[in-house]
Amino acid sequence: MRVGVLTGGGDCPGLNATLRGLVLAGVKKYGYEYIGFLDGWAGPIENRFIPLDVDTVKSIYNDGGTMLGSSRTNPLKDPKLVDQIKENLEVNNIDVLVAIGGDDTLGVATKLAHMDFKTIGVPKTIDNDLSATDFTPGFDTAVSIATEAVDRLHTTAKSHHRAVVVEVMGRHSGWIALHTGIAGGADYTMLPEVETNVADLCAAVQHEYGEGRKNYAIVVVSEGARLAHQDELVLQDDSRDAFGHVKLGGIGEAVASLIEKETGIETRSVMLGHTQRGGAPTARDRVLSTRYGIFAADMIHEERFGQMAAIRGDTLLPVPLADATTQNKTVGSEWYPVLEVLKA
Ligand code: F6P
Repeated sequence: MRVGVLTGGGDCPGLNATLRGLVLAGVKKYGYEYIGFLDGWAGPIENRFIPLDVDTVKSIYNDGGTMLGSSRTNPLKDPKLVDQIKENLEVNNIDVLVAIGGDDTLGVATKLAHMDFKTIGVPKTIDNDLSATDFTPGFDTAVSIATEAVDRLHTTAKSHHRAVVVEVMGRHSGWIALHTGIAGGADYTMLPEVETNVADLCAAVQHEYGEGRKNYAIVVVSEGARLAHQDELVLQDDSRDAFGHVKLGGIGEAVASLIEKETGIETRSVMLGHTQRGGAPTARDRVLSTRYGIFAADMIHEERFGQMAAIRGDTLLPVPLADATTQNKTVGSEWYPVLEVLKA
């Protein structure tokens, strides 16, 4: 059996650990041969790949990024590109393709599966927004990085009696903001799922100032969050990526200006950006990623084509690829009372 694998979309810590699990299990348990396509879907379109074996992947358990490279190349923009992928997979005698990615990458994998190519999906994304699975590799690391940053911002905010607004990633799902807000002791957390009332936000910040109070405030805001009066999301510019996604970013700065204007409290904003995707995965992400990789090799053996490896509770299971890509997993309303209790 000859297996092709690629990593697509935004990178995240844990991708290499997944590749390692996939290759080690495939070679040792089933005698598979692997090739790794480079730079996401660009690899199979342009027929660029490298061989992968036990020695290549043995030591990459804690490497950040992806040894295969990644891109947001979208073959669905042109039917000829999908045909090109199919042709190159056939030319290289690939029996099964494993696509490791988020909703965009797995959307392309779903399309290939519909074209009767044997395809298996493995999830990843710091945003943790894939439905059909509880946790995606990268998320725990992103939350840890963001929480450490917030811990540090507490001390400088305290010294200067400032409010600090910390903007985290997550697109239209507030999982990173939710977990960072809770773990980082935020006075207010803004999610994309709930429009923020300006008076409520400013009252929470103001509440932390005065006799007997801590005299500084921390606000965590998701990049896709929105203020109640705001019609549009705050964007970095007008561009879109190949999958049509806008470039979110800047809401933190807007919120900081607003807090300063409304309350008179000196306020700063910090955008954590791609720092959240960089560096080594946490131990938890290494374990999760490795388990996903090994499970994907088992899925190949069990011919679970057109399916994605998922985790529910602590149990790995195959789910239809389409279930993972049809809608985003957002923060449910059961979390709102938690944030309400923690609010200043
Ligand atoms: O989907 C992961 C993610 O990191 C989002 O949180 C963020 O909005 C986006 O990717 C950034 O994408 P890019 O790497 O293209 O700037």
